[in-house]
Amino acid sequence: IPEASRQMMEAHDLLKKFYHHLLVNTKEGQEALEYLLGRGFTSETIEKFQIGYALDSWDFVYKFLTKRGYTDDILEKAGLIIFRDRDEKYFDRFRNRVMFPIMDHQGNTIAFSGRALGDDEPKYLNSPETPIFNKSQVLYNFNNARPHIRKKEQVVLFEGFADCISAVRAGVENAVATMGTALTDLHLKLIKRNTDHVLICYDSDSAGLAAANRAANMLAEAGFQVKASVMPDGLDPDDYIKKYGEKSFISDVIGSSLTYMAFKMQYLRKGKNLNNEGERIHYIEEVLSEISHLPNAVERDHYLRQLSSEFSLSLDALEQQQRKIFFAEK
Ligand code: GTP
Ligand code: MN
Ligand code: MN
Ligand code: MN
Ligand code: MN
Repeated sequence: IPEASRQMMEAHDLLKKFYHHLLVNTKEGQEALEYLLGRGFTSETIEKFQIGYALDSWDFVYKFLTKRGYTDDILEKAGLIIFRDRDEKYFDRFRNRVMFPIMDHQGNTIAFSGRALGDDEPKYLNSPETPIFNKSQVLYNFNNARPHIRKKEQVVLFEGFADCISAVRAGVENAVATMGTALTDLHLKLIKRNTDHVLICYDSDSAGLAAANRAANMLAEAGFQVKASVMPDGLDPDDYIKKYGEKSFISDVIGSSLTYMAFKMQYLRKGKNLNNEGERIHYIEEVLSEISHLPNAVERDHYLRQLSSEFSLSLDALEQQQRKIFFAEK
């Protein structure tokens, strides 16, 4: 590790500890702590994930870290302070936010994501790309989750930090989250070194379902065994746990995941009226296209029969059409 990177990690680590102290032990952090407890975070999760609070100050981080010998240059490149031309001064990037430290896969603190306490925009403010932080490479909680991913031979993929944290508290220790970005090839490589089985547990609003669909495509294409869990009423995993409890999340969401094809069929059905002939035929074509991507002949046969019986269509016709689609897409 280059010396500059080592210093940036060290500065992040110091700051993580101080943010955490501010949240847990000070009057200034009380509102943030109440916000978290009100959302259902426990003291135990706050400890485990080293959650903290950034003061509502323009220069507290700048003073705290320069006093400890870090140069302006290092702190700026680390993304912790920002130079403002207008008054030619440095300012703290994160102010009055709940701070989630981001650890790399060795456990080094390399970035932060700060959540607004109320409806301030943006809701989450992340560290920028820096020499030590590349968000397309990092999966949140991967350093804790890795042994559990190997033991359970599965990773559970979430959209948000809050979801990942609530899931871990509920017992899903093989949980990771992307950093507010789409899944990348680097994420896939990282997962592949540890397991072939991925359970996608994204938000069940329309944006989340569309993202889950894209993730499912990517993962299937890369040869993973893909499953997906969907929650009722557009909830996200964190909301679901708050509303229905941890036990229900484990049995009715994680334990009742859909196979890749079942998820695809549910996704493709959404918003279509299958009593309408045109929409029905369109749906069948889309499902046939999905079936034609399945590498396993037994699975293809299974879903063709399912379509055949659901829509009273001859298996022969479906098979023919599926082959046609297969060769057309080649
Ligand atoms: P809560 O409202 O705290 O429960 O957040 P959430 O995790 O449910 O967030 P949401 O579903 O809106 O977004 C999922 C993930 O996208 C978050 O965990 C963030 O990583 C990212 N994200 C959401 N909003 C923003 C934003 O305003 N800016 C950035 N950079 N990322 C965001
Ligand atoms: Mn502590
Ligand atoms: Mn979302
Ligand atoms: Mn969400
Ligand atoms: Mn949420």
